[in-house]
Amino acid sequence: MKILGIESSCDETAASVVEDGRVLLSNVVNSQIDIHSVYGGVVPEVAARSHIEVINPVINQALTDANCSWDDIDAIAVTYAPGLIGSLLVGTLAARTLAVLKNKPLYPIHHVEAHVYANFLNEAAPVFPMLALIVSGGHSQLVLFRDHGDYELLGQTQDDAVGEAFDKVAKILGLTYPGGPSVAKAALNGDPKRYVLPKAKLTGVYDFSFSGLKTAVLRAVQRETGVDFTFPSGELSARLNDVQRNDFAASFQYTAISTLVDKAEKAFRDYSPKSVVIAGGVAANQELRRQLSERLPLHIDYAPMQLCTDNAAMIATLGYYYAQKKQPTDPMELEVIPSLSMTNTTW
Ligand code: KG4
Ligand code: ZN
Repeated sequence: MKILGIESSCDETAASVVEDGRVLLSNVVNSQIDIHSVYGGVVPEVAARSHIEVINPVINQALTDANCSWDDIDAIAVTYAPGLIGSLLVGTLAARTLAVLKNKPLYPIHHVEAHVYANFLNEAAPVFPMLALIVSGGHSQLVLFRDHGDYELLGQTQDDAVGEAFDKVAKILGLTYPGGPSVAKAALNGDPKRYVLPKAKLTGVYDFSFSGLKTAVLRAVQRETGVDFTFPSGELSARLNDVQRNDFAASFQYTAISTLVDKAEKAFRDYSPKSVVIAGGVAANQELRRQLSERLPLHIDYAPMQLCTDNAAMIATLGYYYAQKKQPTDPMELEVIPSLSMTNTTW
């Protein structure tokens, strides 16, 4: 069964063809990073307009790369939640139109759940029960999957997502957008022990919090540069030298990642899953991979970098498993849901 996946929930326009939820036939991603980096973050209106410009060529390219005509495609899977409303509308409207025109079954896919399914394209698919650490720009969650569509949310962030913390700390340090990769790069040359930053203590044993850590970085930068808290935070980074900047990046990354790994390790000991996967943009972080592999007593297969950040292969892969259990949706009826928590979608 060949599924065409379509993804446009944030600032990547993507299409991909995946066979039987296992074989990646094409993976086209048009990133808008260059467009948004001027503004230091995603501008929703600009994102939606850019999706409109490229969605058709991206879909056509995915079919061409997969060596497929429309006759070869068995179904369409599209992200309908969560994300930016204008962005989601472009992908879903394209998918709905194509489903009607080409007479294909249409499956609505939850973006955050789909991130986990990038791991099903690994050489060895994960086995259940599976512990998933989902870490992106909008989400930080620990989820126990008992089967496809049968999962339990163990814990989540109480404030900022970890990717959001990377992005905000990058701004404080004067590093480029998106913050995750630039903080990780600066951290390679930094001392993770130079600045001792606090780990949040929370009542929920598997919950996270990253807002206090971000503020702690801000206060430490203010202390280090000798200005008080009334100094505009946007101008702070000019007062840091490269050594300080790298040491702050490394110290922040070390603390943020070990907070994630502490909770993942606790969940692993309590639930004894047969596999552990990481998913979402922050899953591309090498320090996360290093610490997890060091602390968990099982082999972890990590998804390739390009399948960790937003892509449509994960949408097509989850679409395959979804199609095994669920009826397709009516293309005339499909609506987008910009904020929909993953726990409400067990199927
Ligand atoms: O999953 P994703 O592509 O989009 C969302 O659904 O949010 O995740 C984007 C997030 C951004 O916050 C970005 O800074 C972060 O993932 N990210 C990273 C790395 N690469 C991307 N964070 C830490 N280390 C990385 N190497
Ligand atoms: Zn994402």
